[in-house]
Amino acid sequence: MRLILLGAPGVGKGTQAKKLQDQFGIPQISTGDILRAAVRDKTELGMAAKAYMDRGALVPDDVIIGIIRERISQPDCEKGFILDGFPRTIPQAEALDAMLAEMKLNLDVVLEIYVDPEKIVQRLTNRRVCSECGAVFNLLTNPPPADGKCPNCGGVIIQRDDDKEETVRNRLAVYNKQTAPLKEFYSKKGILKTIDGDDTVEEVYRKILDTLGLEKEK
Ligand code: AP5
Repeated sequence: MRLILLGAPGVGKGTQAKKLQDQFGIPQISTGDILRAAVRDKTELGMAAKAYMDRGALVPDDVIIGIIRERISQPDCEKGFILDGFPRTIPQAEALDAMLAEMKLNLDVVLEIYVDPEKIVQRLTNRRVCSECGAVFNLLTNPPPADGKCPNCGGVIIQRDDDKEETVRNRLAVYNKQTAPLKEFYSKKGILKTIDGDDTVEEVYRKILDTLGLEKEK
């Protein structure tokens, strides 16, 4: 399965990609997670990306395309991959097409998750994440433990710098301008499917499996 999860910030791409990865053993490739790890480790990539990320802007296409080229040629991607947060611009989508053509591979589905923008603002300003393993919580729907430590790894639970309301609104504007045109790009190829993401995590997962023609783990 080679799948793109498309959708505005906060629609639940990361949450659902992790569930698919756990059930089907296909890697989630999140460009956001890769960039945040680079920022945390203060690598050259991280230093270059941080200023863009902090203001909710996109990191330049050539940087991101290089990351994906390297990542999808790893052996764990032979069975497929779930792209979460990539592509985000038409040049990124065209570069992905070229990479896959070189590897003689196709994309199976581009799955768009849609949630009303004001609900997204509420979700993201209440999101909390583990600074070590990236586990995702939400103060309203899935609160982290009261001691502020991640139950999976003991890491400190924090708010992402780009989850402040003003930055969230900028990220939504950037999505509408630079990423939303991908819907038409993939619709023309006949591989775009859209689901309503304003439902519980389990219900959204069920809709995704139905759309992909897959069954939930018993
Ligand atoms: P990235 O990390 O990709 O951020 P994003 O696309 O803005 O997506 P999010 O991680 O914010 O949201 P999500 O859809 O994964 O939602 P989640 O599951 O966490 O990118 C960050 C930055 O990196 C970008 O701004 C850019 O600078 C840079 N970047 C990354 N990729 C790039 C690229 N390709 N090109 C250029 N730059 C790039 O859920 C959100 C919250 O809602 C959580 O609290 C969760 O618990 C909760 N939630 C999830 N599902 C539900 C539900 N069904 N009901 C209620 N609550 C829910």
